[in-house]
Order: sequence, then structure tokens, then C-alpha cells
Amino acid sequence: MEKEITIAIDGWSSCGKSTLAKALAKELNYVYVDSGAMYRGVTLYAKRKGLISEDGVDERAIIDELSNIDLSFSNNENGVAELSLNGENVENQIRSIEVSNVVSAVAKIKEVRQFLVKQQRKMGNNGGVVMDGRDIGSVVFPNAELKLFVTADPEIRAQRRFDELQAKGDNVSLEEVKANLKLRDEMDASREESPLIQTEDAVVLDNSNLTPKQQLEKSLLLVEERK
Ligand code: CDP
Ligand code: CDP
Repeated sequence: MEKEITIAIDGWSSCGKSTLAKALAKELNYVYVDSGAMYRGVTLYAKRKGLISEDGVDERAIIDELSNIDLSFSNNENGVAELSLNGENVENQIRSIEVSNVVSAVAKIKEVRQFLVKQQRKMGNNGGVVMDGRDIGSVVFPNAELKLFVTADPEIRAQRRFDELQAKGDNVSLEEVKANLKLRDEMDASREESPLIQTEDAVVLDNSNLTPKQQLEKSLLLVEERK
């Protein structure tokens, strides 16, 4: 039987990581795990509980609530994994700009990361997995056979995310999206706990001028090399 490898995809916000990860998983018949959705799920829970307000993030209270948070993925009718929070499908809610604006402040909490990394390792411990996020190649699966670091021009990334939100009927401005991406990129790369880094063994994929199909084809060549 062909060897099933672990594929770690990291990179900046809205640069096409999950589009690529999903396509690779489909093509290879691997499991896809969207680690960012899990940070967004914890953030949504904390917001609903009133633990995030104008005054900031109540880190202690969020840590105390972790044992009450159950996250799971299940496939929708198109075979695309969607996040459930304590049994409720929250796929749409976690993508809102309100969650995006505070998720990086929640993701920097050490205990939140430990809580989620443990679950992520379990989901991928048998290989045959594609996981995307910020610390997959550096922390979650440092021995992944293939690590991709995806990047794209910030203006292009903002436009892509803006188009996506508009298509969903989310009434957000391009300026707001740009500001959110800039803020998250800065926070994610500068935090103390497992910041976003490009590991030495990662292959950089700049997809500013690539279509989703082209980025998939390039990546599949790399997968074949590593198998
Ligand atoms: O899809 P997008 O690039 O907008 O972000 P995401 O992958 O959904 O991740 C949302 C946020 O979760 C990021 O901005 C990070 O703050 C955090 N995150 C993280 O810290 N570590 C990961 N492995 C994945 C996401
Ligand atoms: O997961 P991440 O936040 O890195 O990005 P994404 O959600 O995969 O991609 C953001 C948007 O860019 C989606 O609407 C993709 O369809 C689009 N995209 C694109 O136009 N061209 C690419 N090469 C990759 C993604």
C-alpha cells in the first residue's frame, strides 16, 4: 500500500491555506483538519459566555471554561468538514468578522493552545492527514513529511477574503478586512506561544498569481516526492 504522509500547511491569514488543504485531502483521500476553525470555536464560545468584551479578554475565565468546550468536525452534504461546538454546527458563526477580530487574542493563551494541540495531534496521529494553521509544521507535527508555507500579496489576500464574505452576504468593508488581516498577522507572528514561523524545512508557495487548481498541481508534485 502507498505510504500515507502528514502534510502541514502554515501561512498568513487568508492566503489560500484551507482551499489548498481541502483540495489535497480530497485528491489523496486524506483527512482534512482546519485547526483555525478550532481556535475560532473557542473564541465563539467565549464571546457567547461574555468572556470577551470591550474591556478585553478574560483569559483566566476562558481557561476555566475549556473543559466545557467540545469541538468536532463532521462532513456536510458536499463532503466538506464543518465545525460543531457542543453539538451545534457553528461553521457560519465562526467565520464572522466579530470572531475574526478577537480570535488572535484567544489563540495566544498558552492553555488554549495546549488544549487544542492535544486534540489536533490525536486527529492526525496515523498519517494520511492534511492540517492547516499557523503552528502545524513547527509544533503540532514537527516531523510532517511535507510542510508548506503559503503566502500571497496582502492586497490580494484582503480582496479574496472580502469577496468571500460578500458572497456570504456579510456586510463588511474592504478596509475592515484589510485591518483585520494586518492585525492578526502581526499578533500571530509576534506572540510568545508558538508564533507563526516559516520552518527551515518548509517549502514556500506564493500563490498571488496562482489559481486554486495551479496551487494544487504544484503541491501534488511535492507530495509525490515525499511519499
Ligand atoms: O482562515 P484564516 O487565515 O483567516 O484564519 P484561520 O486559519 O481560521 O485562523 C484564525 C486564527 O486562529 C489565526 O489568526 C490565529 O490567531 C489562530 N490560529 C492559531 O493560532 N494557530 C493555528 N494553528 C490556527 C489558527
Ligand atoms: O485558509 P486561508 O485563510 O489561508 O485562505 P482560504 O480560505 O483558503 O482562501 C481565501 C480565499 O482565497 C478563498 O475564497 C479562495 O477561494 C481564494 N483563493 C484564490 O482565489 N486563489 C488561490 N490560489 C487560493 C485561494
